[in-house]
Amino acid sequence: MKKKLLGALLSVAMVATLLTGCGSTGSESTSAPAADAPAAEADAPAADAEAAAPAAEANGKKVGVAMPTQSSERWINDGANMKAQLESLGYEVDLQYAEDDVQAQVSQIENMIASGANCLVIASIDSSALVNVEAQAKEAGIPIIAYDRLLMDTDAVSYYATFDNKGVGTAIGKYIEEKKDLANTTETYTIEFFMGSPDDNNAHMLYDGLMEVLQPYLDKGTLVCKSGRTSFDDTCILRWSQETAQQNCENYLTGFYADEDLDICATAFDGFAYGCKAALEGAGYTADNWPLITGQDAELMATKNIISGSQTMSIYKDTRLLAEKCVKMVQAVLEGEEPEINDTEQYNNNVIVVPSYLCTPVAVDKDNYKEIIVDGGYYTEEQLAE
Ligand code: BGC
Repeated sequence: MKKKLLGALLSVAMVATLLTGCGSTGSESTSAPAADAPAAEADAPAADAEAAAPAAEANGKKVGVAMPTQSSERWINDGANMKAQLESLGYEVDLQYAEDDVQAQVSQIENMIASGANCLVIASIDSSALVNVEAQAKEAGIPIIAYDRLLMDTDAVSYYATFDNKGVGTAIGKYIEEKKDLANTTETYTIEFFMGSPDDNNAHMLYDGLMEVLQPYLDKGTLVCKSGRTSFDDTCILRWSQETAQQNCENYLTGFYADEDLDICATAFDGFAYGCKAALEGAGYTADNWPLITGQDAELMATKNIISGSQTMSIYKDTRLLAEKCVKMVQAVLEGEEPEINDTEQYNNNVIVVPSYLCTPVAVDKDNYKEIIVDGGYYTEEQLAE
């Protein structure tokens, strides 16, 4: 890291007024198209083993699946996997996307209840905004399973299927720690943070996991955040907006990195990594001074960017596995059985501790994407070469 401090104070004042933080909205741009998603039916999961038998039991039962948005590839995959797996077990599926419009999601869930859903699976947009409609479902005796994002402030949720969200943050932090050899280096590295949506519990947990690893290095001065924006409140981005991430990165680069390079973009989402990439290209960064950029979801575009070097890593979350665990929860609640859970402590939604199944997130980069992603059947070499 070059060490020129010129103009820093002035920049702080300028940028503070320019930065767009959690209070603003922005529309995400799309990542990879649905056609590029892993083939849901072909990849469909271990549920296969049980698929033949329960079709008859499941018949006539309807499952409403409420997803947040199609603007990010991961949710398209999640929805497709859930639908395929539930249908293979004989359930009727009502899959809805609300395009990050909270009221639209409320209406969709109301319609699911009115049209006789027997179970609801919800990946929320704003995790506290569904309390009333969740109470309606409870009143009507319809069990709810929280999908990937915890449903907050309600006792109407029966189970939660997700990835270890704090573990995602820890994995990103450890990746940075190892790649920059933070424990041993005598260098200092500049870093900026791009964290998730404040109305998504996952974003808070990721931040906690990340800072558990990185805060000591900020304290020691091995990591230097020139914008001074290290708190969750200062770095969160409402509705996971790629545009806001790009705008924030542009503002950081202009305000704080005119005379020295930004070394690390610690981002919580592949969409943010795309935003940072665009900002860095705009600011004239090249392969010679390109920063380490993290992400989450291992979207197709992100994986291609990892191969080409414009993103360093991502967190691979196998949406087929998550759907499989969630489908098993649906089956269990509808058949009066206990589903498999592996966490009864971490996910307190302010009313109850929701019994959860946590899948394991895996850090992927250029060195292991073949083994994890290609050999795991998530994307083919052909998809990645397109
Ligand atoms: C999910 C992430 C995803 C983010 C943005 C979070 O709730 O856990 O996997 O990147 O939402 O869609």
